[in-house]
Amino acid sequence: MSLRQFPEGFLWGAATAAYQIEGAWNEDAKGESIWDRFTHRQHTILNGDNGDIACNHYHKMPEDVALMQALGLQTYRFSLSWPRILPEGRGQVNGKGLEFYDRLVDHLLEANIIPNITLNHWDLPQTLQELGGWVNRESIDWFADYARVVFEKLGDRVPLWTTHNEPAVLAFMGYAFGNFAPGIADYSQAYQTSHHLLVAHGKAVQLFREGNYNGEIGIVLSVNHYQPASDRQEDIAACQRMYDTSTALFADPLFKGQYPEPLFNWIGCHAPKIETGDLELIATPIDFVGINYYFTLNVAFAQWGGLFKLDSTQVSAPGWGQTDMGWGVNPPGLTSVLLDFKNNYGNPKLYITEGGCALADTPNYEGFVEDWGRINYLRSHFIAAHDAVADGVNLHGYYVWTLMDNFEWAHGFYPRFGLVRVEFDSGKRIPKQSAWWYREVMDRNGVEE
Ligand code: NOJ
Repeated sequence: MSLRQFPEGFLWGAATAAYQIEGAWNEDAKGESIWDRFTHRQHTILNGDNGDIACNHYHKMPEDVALMQALGLQTYRFSLSWPRILPEGRGQVNGKGLEFYDRLVDHLLEANIIPNITLNHWDLPQTLQELGGWVNRESIDWFADYARVVFEKLGDRVPLWTTHNEPAVLAFMGYAFGNFAPGIADYSQAYQTSHHLLVAHGKAVQLFREGNYNGEIGIVLSVNHYQPASDRQEDIAACQRMYDTSTALFADPLFKGQYPEPLFNWIGCHAPKIETGDLELIATPIDFVGINYYFTLNVAFAQWGGLFKLDSTQVSAPGWGQTDMGWGVNPPGLTSVLLDFKNNYGNPKLYITEGGCALADTPNYEGFVEDWGRINYLRSHFIAAHDAVADGVNLHGYYVWTLMDNFEWAHGFYPRFGLVRVEFDSGKRIPKQSAWWYREVMDRNGVEE
């Protein structure tokens, strides 16, 4: 067995998001979010689950940070609940909400864990949704004002910031397919949302620069790997279209200052309204891109029409099956997406801000889980990331999704992605085998092949 050694200073950590772990949905003057509203509607979430309590992290935060320290995390990526800080979305700041994150940051720093904050991991204040949410152009200013409040409070101590998490997923699952909050099914709204998210991102980056904060700021994109199902011309074109709608729709304006033209010709009347200066703002230089990679799709042209004339199937590398999300396991897909950023977007600094798998863990009588499947999954993806580094990709860190089992959006609590098992009845946390294995990886800054 040989050790794949990562470059010195490579950061290892784990990620979570506010709505997925915090609970305390209406405590300490927190406002309602679109996810509170959406999960409280009938037939939106598997088994009728919701994040009202989730992992109860809001009340167990010190214990959770101690756990992260015991597991040897070097960095922790988490998001802030906008309506916890600004219950109405704008205006009056809720001191208690902001203090919660202030304490979290201090606990992390005391434990020698680098905080990495995401401003928007989807839980928009409901009051702003009532004004149209991200479809309303004013959302750019709402977001910038929220960012300013947070930068002023935490900007002195937090070295890593991201504006949005997976804008493609937010825009399309939330506004085009309707299976995420706010549950709207309208392509025009989805494209307008994408655009406003990007402009809001640019504005927040500029505010961050003006404030002269020491940290780095970037954005987290969902970049899965797409390959044509065959070498037929129409499958190749379908694959390109899939790439354009999910990756290039965001990476092109961020790095090339323009939207992918063929995509905009295709979407026609659904194209967003763009104002003078927007594209310049979006292309404001950032310090890094966060890459979330989960799967590879084979993409084919489909005969049956509709806006998406695409068919896609999950790809599993030989010997690998699918996870509990029905996602194929294909580690080389991770190397490919990383290389794509090197070759097509100027080799920006990258962090893998999410990577992990949902598996049907089987606890023993003490609640301990020997999750060798997760260990194999992580090992193979760490090696795939290492392959990319060896090929010159500017990769600086890896965050496992996720620290602990949590609320997996429309799938509720069924999928278990955690390094730590959570017994949702009692709130008990039990590190899985993978957590102890991961600690060794982090300690050695390398993974055995
Ligand atoms: C990406 C999202 O950012 C995260 O919230 C989600 O839980 C994981 N994917 C797994 O689906």
